[in-house]
Amino acid sequence: MTEAELYDEYKGVYVPKRLHPPESLKYYEDFTFRRDDVLIVTYPKSGTTWLQEIVPLIFSAGDLALVRTVPNWDRVPWLEEHRAVLLNLEQRPSPRAFATHFHRYMMNESYSKVKPKVIYVMRNPKDVFTSSFHYYGMASYLVNPDSADEFMEKFLNGKIMFGSWFDHVKGWLNAKDQEHIFYVAYEELIQDLKGSVSRIGQFLGKSLSPEMIEKIAENCLFKNMRQNKMSNYSLVPEEFMDQKKSEFLRKGVVGDWKNLFTEAQTERFDAVYKDKMKDVKFKFAWD
Ligand code: A3P
Repeated sequence: MTEAELYDEYKGVYVPKRLHPPESLKYYEDFTFRRDDVLIVTYPKSGTTWLQEIVPLIFSAGDLALVRTVPNWDRVPWLEEHRAVLLNLEQRPSPRAFATHFHRYMMNESYSKVKPKVIYVMRNPKDVFTSSFHYYGMASYLVNPDSADEFMEKFLNGKIMFGSWFDHVKGWLNAKDQEHIFYVAYEELIQDLKGSVSRIGQFLGKSLSPEMIEKIAENCLFKNMRQNKMSNYSLVPEEFMDQKKSEFLRKGVVGDWKNLFTEAQTERFDAVYKDKMKDVKFKFAWD
């Protein structure tokens, strides 16, 4: 199926119709944030699911009950997704945790006024591309990537869900009032999960003992999250996500792009990256 069939255009980016009907997008426009809300913001395939595990475990001081019984999409719902409307989020006790793939410019008025806590997760775009390439091949609500070459042009030109990776990252890095935003890279989580859990905990104002940090990090290891059916998307019907083609928790490593990119593709990607990121001063974990 084509982009025209599967996607709507919303505020300049593609959003998959099946997940984001107009009433869900409207719900988000009118959504009222609380100051102590925590919003996990990502470009898709940058580590959303990982943070949907880490943040609730920080709140629960390592108690596994919630992450073992409630699927990630209900424990930390996407505000732009159809389920948000059904979950009575207004009734949830503080602190609430949400996820979003929105660009900074897409955020609503309440967000700008209230300034909830944001955790912005970034990942090497070559690995984001690689993870996306496999994911678009298994999820029926997305346009199938015919070849890596074709998908790369769409990725580099932002003609995929939630638009351009470059615009997403630049928009959030340039956000004003950064004191309520915590920036973290997927690569840092891989390199030092315990340290990252501890730093995120501090940002959230939660003091965690070394034992709690140990327990949280252990549960959030790729091999362990993969076993958790509340986090590995095995509850999703096969016609929606065919995990026989590619698992949602696929490899969970840094640098898998090297197994996919040809030399020509690496050159093309690097050239666009260099141009689009030339004014960005931020020191990325993957540079
Ligand atoms: P890969 O496809 O490279 O394996 P998102 O949740 O934003 O859709 O991102 C999905 C990516 O994050 C997938 O990458 C997935 O395997 C990876 N991921 C999720 N949980 C992880 C964990 N605990 N450790 C390492 N990677 C994880």
